[in-house]
Amino acid sequence: MNAVVQQALRQGGWRTSEPTLLAPESCHVLPSGHRMPLLGLGTRELNFHTVDTVCSALELGFRMLDTSPAYHTQRGIGDAIRACGFERNDIFVITKVDPQGDSYAAIHKNLTQLRLEYVDLALVHGVPRHDAGEMAWHALRRAKRDGLARDIGVDSFPIENVEELVYRTGEMPAVNQLEWSPFGHSPRMLDFCHDNGILILARSPLTRAQRLNDDKVSTMAARYGKTAAQLLIRWNLQHGVVPLPKANHVQHLRDNLNVFDFEIAQHDVVRLNALNQHFSVVDKLDYA
Ligand SMILES: NC(=O)c1ccc[n+]([C@@H]2O[C@H](COP(=O)([O-])OP(=O)(O)OC[C@H]3O[C@@H](n4cnc5c(N)ncnc54)[C@H](OP(=O)(O)O)[C@@H]3O)[C@@H](O)[C@H]2O)c1
Repeated sequence: MNAVVQQALRQGGWRTSEPTLLAPESCHVLPSGHRMPLLGLGTRELNFHTVDTVCSALELGFRMLDTSPAYHTQRGIGDAIRACGFERNDIFVITKVDPQGDSYAAIHKNLTQLRLEYVDLALVHGVPRHDAGEMAWHALRRAKRDGLARDIGVDSFPIENVEELVYRTGEMPAVNQLEWSPFGHSPRMLDFCHDNGILILARSPLTRAQRLNDDKVSTMAARYGKTAAQLLIRWNLQHGVVPLPKANHVQHLRDNLNVFDFEIAQHDVVRLNALNQHFSVVDKLDYA
């Protein structure tokens, strides 16, 4: 293994605060030493009632919000954080920058929309067309040095692109946000991220509801007295993956937090793993 990559590995890496305990107050500890909740709220398509929905989510117990300028939810999230009266330190905010263009300026623009002084996590949103992502990565590293982002990571990066980025820059991403569900995931990626201290954040963890009526999942969920959505969220948690389910409906928000009072037996985890067809809500998984 390349020496630069080896050094990055020694420096990076998340750890779980209480690895054996999956509880609402448990968290992951990122390379900066800051704590990340075990699950968060996705905010894509929450752009009609963003403030109300995000306030409801915070009041119910969500403490992490995943956004992007592409979702048009950043202003509403900033308003909701203020309206709900939470301390900034109590909320973990993730945003993203396009790998093309001036990514440092993009961080400033995101912060202006959010009306925050820093984000907890900033991601390079997608693999760039013309380089390994190092221009955007250098911008995020600068943002981190300047106190604008506490940790930095990537989004939708295949293994080879992560390796290339680390080879060129010497810094391992803290996280890789990927589409991730029993129907679409990658054991190879899970091993790679685990070995390299990269935390996987699961986007579209509920398959945008496209597979929530799957017979096997529904039957298994009923056996645990849970919904299909709760089973998929819990499956992520038990893999050490951070799910980011999005929900407009308050009952869905409530259900999605109610996943800490049961455990999927190992043989059922194996059965859920076996549902993998590299399914994607859009087409086929692009990283597996
Ligand atoms: N980085 C990227 O490029 C990227 C791409 C896609 C997504 N993401 C992130 O991942 C987040 C989640 O992904 P997603 O928005 O694509 O879809 P998702 O979270 O997989 O699914 C959302 C759908 O599931 C429904 N739902 C939520 N909770 C439910 C429950 N307990 N029971 C039944 N149905 C439930 C929602 O309904 P209601 O809304 O009606 O409640 C909505 O229709 C996004 O919001 C975004 O933050 C990132």
